[in-house]
Amino acid sequence: MIVDAQGRRFRNLRISLTAACNYACTYCVPNGRRLQAAVAELGATEMRDAVDLLIEAAGVEKLRITGGEPLLSSKFDELLPAVMELPLADVSITTNGQLLAQKAAGIIGAGLRRINISLDTLDASAFRAIARSGDLATVLLGVRQMLDAGLKVKINMVPMRRRNADQILPMLDYCFERGIELRFIELMRMGHLRRGNQFIQEFFGMDEILAVIGNRYEYARTDAPWDATAVRFEVPGKGTFGVIANESEPFCSTCTRLRLSSNGWLYGCLSNARRHDMRPVLRLPRPQALERLRQLLMRALGDKQSLGFRGEVTVMKFIGG
Ligand code: 5AD
Repeated sequence: MIVDAQGRRFRNLRISLTAACNYACTYCVPNGRRLQAAVAELGATEMRDAVDLLIEAAGVEKLRITGGEPLLSSKFDELLPAVMELPLADVSITTNGQLLAQKAAGIIGAGLRRINISLDTLDASAFRAIARSGDLATVLLGVRQMLDAGLKVKINMVPMRRRNADQILPMLDYCFERGIELRFIELMRMGHLRRGNQFIQEFFGMDEILAVIGNRYEYARTDAPWDATAVRFEVPGKGTFGVIANESEPFCSTCTRLRLSSNGWLYGCLSNARRHDMRPVLRLPRPQALERLRQLLMRALGDKQSLGFRGEVTVMKFIGG
């Protein structure tokens, strides 16, 4: 097992099926232009083989399928059932939900148990102002289908001042009523947010989120797994919610995440642009592939930050959330 001086290892793998997205969210891209697929993205078989090797070489136990928007990828229909066959404790998807209703049968049929859906507001016009594309009702229909099929649903919301902070309570109530765990993600200094005023103007931190919730509900902090990114809270009789407090309570010291981009680069840290090419590994016979991969993983583990998120030029398109 590859472990660093802080006891961190790669337990959770996130694979980006495509860099392309059907949204152009304000926190992801600066100009309203949608992200495109990367040049020469891996095929479904290569992705599956990469996951298989990483399970053995790194001890990966949990897999998350991300993008871009993973449901946009033509690989998705083939890849999901293929990774469900691998020896993993958990497989889940992070999606913006726009294509969920269309893909629901395949997702349910593959036996997926959990899904994370990104949704920043229940207000249709605010939705379009943030995502600059897509349709709120279509996302809500997809959420309904996942719940009806018995999947465990989490919703990710990025609260932003003057954009959707007024939606914190409506979103929380929507989730409580449906048994969904809502997770507030603090705005991260990714891509264009690294410089300039947008981050400072819009950042809405954990203290402010909790103050809004505290106006309506009594909440208490609850336990979370040691390597969880979310700080979890319970509102007795209602449900739980989480805050992914990249800025307020950085979780780098217990981070166990590894990312594989759609075009085959391994990233050890979301806050570090350093990357390691996995493509040559995929062409080697298995014993050599595992040996080479272990060398790459050692370097990728060295890319992790010791304390907190510093911000980086990369955006979610390359490495998923
Ligand atoms: N800050 C916070 N969250 C972000 N996401 C994408 N970019 C950012 C950012 N700059 C979130 C999306 C989605 C997840 C994949 O990452 O909203 O929930």
